[in-house]
Amino acid sequence: PLLSEILNFHDFEAIARVVMPEKAWAYYSSAADDEITNRENHAAFHRIWFRPRILRDVTVVDWSTTILGHKSSMPLYITATALGKLGHPDGELNLTRAAAKHGVIQMIPTLASCSFDEIVDAAAPGQVQFFQLYVNKDREITKRIVEHAEKRGIKGLFITVDAPQLGRREKDMRQKFEAEDPSEVKQAGQGGVDRSQGAARAISSFIDPGLNWSDMQFFKSITKMPLILKGVQCWEDALEAYDMGLAGVVLSNHGGRQLDFARSGIEVLVEVVVNLKEKRGLSFPNEQFQLFIDGGVRRATDVIKAVALGATAVGVGRPFLYAFSSYGQEGVEKALRILHDEFEMNMRLLGARNIKEIVPDMVDASNIHLH
Ligand code: FNR
Repeated sequence: PLLSEILNFHDFEAIARVVMPEKAWAYYSSAADDEITNRENHAAFHRIWFRPRILRDVTVVDWSTTILGHKSSMPLYITATALGKLGHPDGELNLTRAAAKHGVIQMIPTLASCSFDEIVDAAAPGQVQFFQLYVNKDREITKRIVEHAEKRGIKGLFITVDAPQLGRREKDMRQKFEAEDPSEVKQAGQGGVDRSQGAARAISSFIDPGLNWSDMQFFKSITKMPLILKGVQCWEDALEAYDMGLAGVVLSNHGGRQLDFARSGIEVLVEVVVNLKEKRGLSFPNEQFQLFIDGGVRRATDVIKAVALGATAVGVGRPFLYAFSSYGQEGVEKALRILHDEFEMNMRLLGARNIKEIVPDMVDASNIHLH
């Protein structure tokens, strides 16, 4: 179909399913074990309903915000997803260029197909980028990567903490990851590549399962970038991150690709907000300690629900992969335009003229269990 016929994120997925090479589809779409968490991620949003306000002048609505102090045209960023070239020859650059046009922030993955420098070089002047870090068993390699990222102007370091071992993505494991594959990762000194069990396992053997809380001092000592943990799953760990002076957490289950039966980010958000308020007197959204979620976000209404409940912004992964796999950079631009249109309409219908007016009372989250 023509790009102009695409109306929503679900359309991108349906088209990608048909046009993408089997291997790429398997890597992008797969999730752990029985993929229950992956399905739950989107379904969890269905348990939250709106309480809109009427008779406010909504002629002008503005959904722009700031993330870690940086301007963003919406409360949303492009999260880190590895191996962009599996889906399209330009790989991650599709995301960089589309992000520039639409004023959104891209998180660059450690395991990008394009080199880190290529992705930074492709950014427009002043364009903000974050970096997702997988921590190497060899901390000298990690130190070099982090220092280089900071030197190149990266504005936030998102340390992935939910992947001491890669989950079993069985759809992907049935595929072979070939040595000559053009998507081959260009950086991050990994060794001992096992190519017999899919892309994910082939590229991840360098990740350190020994990573622990005491390593946070190490990161603080090697960088001034804000440190955010990506993959927090309960209020206890969010509290620990706050007490350690980190800049925030991403409540995420890695798109359902790690621990199956992990809860969705939006569900975890509710308990984090309640407990950090109760135990540390924090209110959200909060400039000093920012909450993010990702997983299953497919509509602006999903984003609005997260913002109402206290998130600064949400990450979106697969929809942008499907968009560029089918239509390249233009696909990603269209996806971002769709979101802008959805924001405008839904904020008007909700009676919120700006992000600050999206308040907790605008949602009914009583179907979310509080732990
Ligand atoms: C990911 N994700 C991920 N996360 C991370 O920290 N490092 C990585 O290298 C990757 N790679 C990756 C590849 C692919 C193909 C997917 C789909 C996801 C997880 C990602 O950052 C995010 O948590 C989820 O993708 C969010 O869920 P949705 O938006 O894909 O539903």
